[in-house]
Amino acid sequence: MTGPVLELDGVHAAHGGIAVLHGVDLVIEAGRVVALLGPNGAGKTTLLTVAAGVHPPSGGRLLLGGRDATGIHPRELARAGVCLVPQGRGVFPNLSVRDNLLMMTFTGRTQEEIEEIAYARFPVLGTRRTQPAGTLSGGEQQMLALARGLATDPAVLLLDELSMGLAPLVVAELYELVADIARQGVAVLVVEQFATAVLRIADRAAVLVGGRIQWQGPPGRSLHAELSSYYLGSPT
Ligand SMILES: Nc1ncnc2c1ncn2[C@@H]1O[C@H](COP(=O)(O)OP(=O)(O)O)[C@@H](O)[C@H]1O
Ligand SMILES: [Mg+2]
Repeated sequence: MTGPVLELDGVHAAHGGIAVLHGVDLVIEAGRVVALLGPNGAGKTTLLTVAAGVHPPSGGRLLLGGRDATGIHPRELARAGVCLVPQGRGVFPNLSVRDNLLMMTFTGRTQEEIEEIAYARFPVLGTRRTQPAGTLSGGEQQMLALARGLATDPAVLLLDELSMGLAPLVVAELYELVADIARQGVAVLVVEQFATAVLRIADRAAVLVGGRIQWQGPPGRSLHAELSSYYLGSPT
């Protein structure tokens, strides 16, 4: 699969009547990683929830595989392969690793298939399968959240601040796994407040400030210059 999978076309969004996104254009392609960067409050999470159909846009369109998907129920979008891994690790701490995975059988895969796929990609989860998810390390919990998302066999993976609260080495390892997922043809959109780790695997970056995409292009020197003007201190 090549070409645009998910497109935001002139998307506006608001929270309680207050406009947050002001006409955002963004294209996510199969097998590619797009990094969406920007300061706290820029509207990054809102953009992801619009892309997942969870938050209805107040203007503009959401296109999936070239077709208008604006206003489609999030469950339908999920069935069509759009998977959101929300900020703050979507795992149930009191349930075992295994039970966290088995909740995903609603997607049509068998328990065996889901476990097999998850443990093949994240072997450490296999060794911890009976452990309550809350006792895993932060990085392992994030792997479990990813594994739950992948159980849906997504075409589009939307990741919100995967790196939050994790050590740089753990983040680098997680992003290598994300790059692997993209190489298998999944379209990936990664949101990060701080640029560092994700740029190593990103094919393209977009900088969102105040609900507008201020810059878009390949990661490189001009991106770093652009980021420096929005952040206090160095972006790396
Ligand atoms: N559920 C909500 N209700 C009201 N305002 C919200 C809600 N979620 C986000 N906002 C506001 O929308 C703006 C963008 O938030 P958000 O999308 O979370 O930004 P980011 O993820 O870039 O930090 C912020 O001003 C925030 O306060
Ligand atoms: Mg956010």
